[in-house]
Amino acid sequence: MNVIDRNPRIIVALDFSSKEPALDLISQLDPSLCRLKVGKEMFTRLGPAFVETLAAMGFQVFLDLKFHDIPNTVAAACEAAADLGVWMINLHASGGRRMMEAARERLERRPERPLLVAVTILTSLSERDLAEVGYSGTAVENVQRLAGLAHFSGLDGIVCSPLEAAAVRDQVDREFLLVTPGVRPLSVSQNDQKRVMTPLDALNNGADMLVIGRPITAAPDPLESLRAIQAEIAGFC
Ligand code: C5P
Repeated sequence: MNVIDRNPRIIVALDFSSKEPALDLISQLDPSLCRLKVGKEMFTRLGPAFVETLAAMGFQVFLDLKFHDIPNTVAAACEAAADLGVWMINLHASGGRRMMEAARERLERRPERPLLVAVTILTSLSERDLAEVGYSGTAVENVQRLAGLAHFSGLDGIVCSPLEAAAVRDQVDREFLLVTPGVRPLSVSQNDQKRVMTPLDALNNGADMLVIGRPITAAPDPLESLRAIQAEIAGFC
């Protein structure tokens, strides 16, 4: 397997409800300093053309649609995402090993393919929520189990909380990517994120790439904020 380029380590989460403010922000950013994440809201509103626009501007795009369906359907959806020229896509590990393998095998037929990472346990779920849907054990135990399954299924990595990164890192090799949201530079508000870590602590805890939204997108000067976070983690890169 090729070594995955971790840099730039910051993935800016574009959580806007319309195109104009997103494009205004992006025009202030630089593809050599960050990647971009497009989630369900923007994709549902603006469609594939928006993703293609970002790729054409030179940005690597993480298409965060968290696929979860029968193996053939997820494999086909991953292929459709790859056709958009995105850099990373994701699916739910709880869709099972056959679903993850089908997606990976479909992508591997291509000369170039996006990275494929799994969501394990949504960080919004409490242990009571997990029990209600039939999961036993703690959230971290379930994250570790599903991360192991994603690794075994040949995925490139997982999305997880920076607070879970060390526990996952203990059981997977260094090449397996850990992508972590829930990151807040010391100088900014936590917004509605409850369990956060600073960018440097997240990397020291085993994370490889950091998904950061409002500390950059809502900053008076987004590029300055991005550069400040890069400076915070410069020693690590
Ligand atoms: O603005 P903020 O930095 O909180 O944005 C974080 C991004 O990461 C959002 O797009 C959010 O949906 C996503 N995310 C998260 N926590 C998770 C999974 C995804 O904050 N557990």
